Amino acid sequence: MTANLTVDCSVEGVFEEDLTDYEAHVQTFMAAGFRGQQDQTILLERLQGPVLLVGLGLRAHAVADTVRTAAATAGRALRHLTTARCTLAAKSMPGYAPEEVARAAAEGVTLGAYHFAGYKSSLATRTRWLSALGPKFGDLESEGWAEGVQIGTAVNFTRDLVNTPANILTPTALADHAETLARNAGMGFRRISGAELDSGAFGGIAAVGRGSAEPACLVELTWGDPQQPPDLCLVGKGITYDSGGLSLKSPESQIGMKNDMGGAAAVLGAMMLVPLLAPSLRVKAVLPFAENMPGGRATRPGDVVTMRNGRTVEILNTDFEGRLVLGDALALAAESGPGAIIDLATLTYAATHALGERTAALLGSDQTLIERIERAAGVTGEPVWRLPMPRYLRPQILSQVADLKNFPGATTARTSTAAMFLREFVPASIPWAHLDLAGPAWSEEEYGVASRGATGYGVRLLGQLLRTYARG
Ligand code: BES
Ligand code: MN
Ligand code: ZN
Repeated sequence: MTANLTVDCSVEGVFEEDLTDYEAHVQTFMAAGFRGQQDQTILLERLQGPVLLVGLGLRAHAVADTVRTAAATAGRALRHLTTARCTLAAKSMPGYAPEEVARAAAEGVTLGAYHFAGYKSSLATRTRWLSALGPKFGDLESEGWAEGVQIGTAVNFTRDLVNTPANILTPTALADHAETLARNAGMGFRRISGAELDSGAFGGIAAVGRGSAEPACLVELTWGDPQQPPDLCLVGKGITYDSGGLSLKSPESQIGMKNDMGGAAAVLGAMMLVPLLAPSLRVKAVLPFAENMPGGRATRPGDVVTMRNGRTVEILNTDFEGRLVLGDALALAAESGPGAIIDLATLTYAATHALGERTAALLGSDQTLIERIERAAGVTGEPVWRLPMPRYLRPQILSQVADLKNFPGATTARTSTAAMFLREFVPASIPWAHLDLAGPAWSEEEYGVASRGATGYGVRLLGQLLRTYARG
């Protein structure tokens, strides 16, 4: 059981060059091997109370991510405290505005202190982080700090959704969360389910949901004038559990498949940030929610369905369900005539084979949009890497009996063929990009600002993109 501690501890970031500021403690530093290197920590007792020092490395090497990561290290160390105070932000860093440093510090501590309290029958704490209101901490820093806390909170909201087990977070429960978020933020909200879903020609979503006792649905969140086309439309894969359906996964592969709504959850986290980061932008989220199960009414390999845009799809493997729900959602998103569409999905194992667990695959039809995403990812430290969609692979998604098939057959380039399937549902006139998060949405270890389990990958990236998008 974890106790709720009420100790108020301070955190201070230290550059290697500034160790001399702490003359009284040099002996302690030497004994502990503390040299101010990135993410080294040491706890000091001062008259004012305990202080946790976190190394920032050399000032000349410091970037925003240095502060974010160091702050996350402090957040982890102090996550059982009820309150903590952070003065990392007061450090001056070449090339960065003070509010940016404050924002990075606030993001870091908020993300580092995260843990999924979940279902342990013990008390859980959420550390309340105070910013240091020292002489160097002015209005701009306070603004940056407040923004950083809100960004971190949105990421943690996404993590909570992804960490919640699939028996609790059903498609309906996830739609309820989306509705609450929309209502609290003053956004438009629409839920399509039941007969409306069946009669709306969402053949892909219906096909994936029909093997489960939990009904599928599709939700839309709209920020800004609903009469005008959105500037940006965000689509996210929301499979609350992926058993594989009749093309059942092995028991080992089934573990962890509650995370198959990581794309939708990241979009929801980002929507939470729209009023803060891009209030003037019109943004719409289109999220298909379903559970992929092998029940008695389940889709059979060989079935053919009609998708929202009229395309027919032969379903040869029910474990390739992501592209089916996303195809419908992309087609619906396109109907509103958005300036661009970005989809996020835990789509293919192949993305992790190619890029590892920490980098998302980035594919799309529009260079400018792709470059924008790359720049945003660079700022937030959420790595992306481009993969191609070469023409010669297209026959792999063409069916003998329908327009398309969901199963490429070939075991190579599956991240590419998945994206090429999705592309069939977006008119060429709409810039579109796709992020495959099968790797980075989840982690078995802590790294950077990532927690174990759901990482909330993509929320900060989309937030940064929204911010720059709003500026034009
Ligand atoms: N949900 C999975 C992909 C996935 C893998 C997400 C790892 C998160 C972590 C997807 O629906 C899937 O099953 N894809 C497979 C199909 C195959 C193994 C039958 C793929 O990528 O090839
Ligand atoms: Mn699957
Ligand atoms: Zn899946």
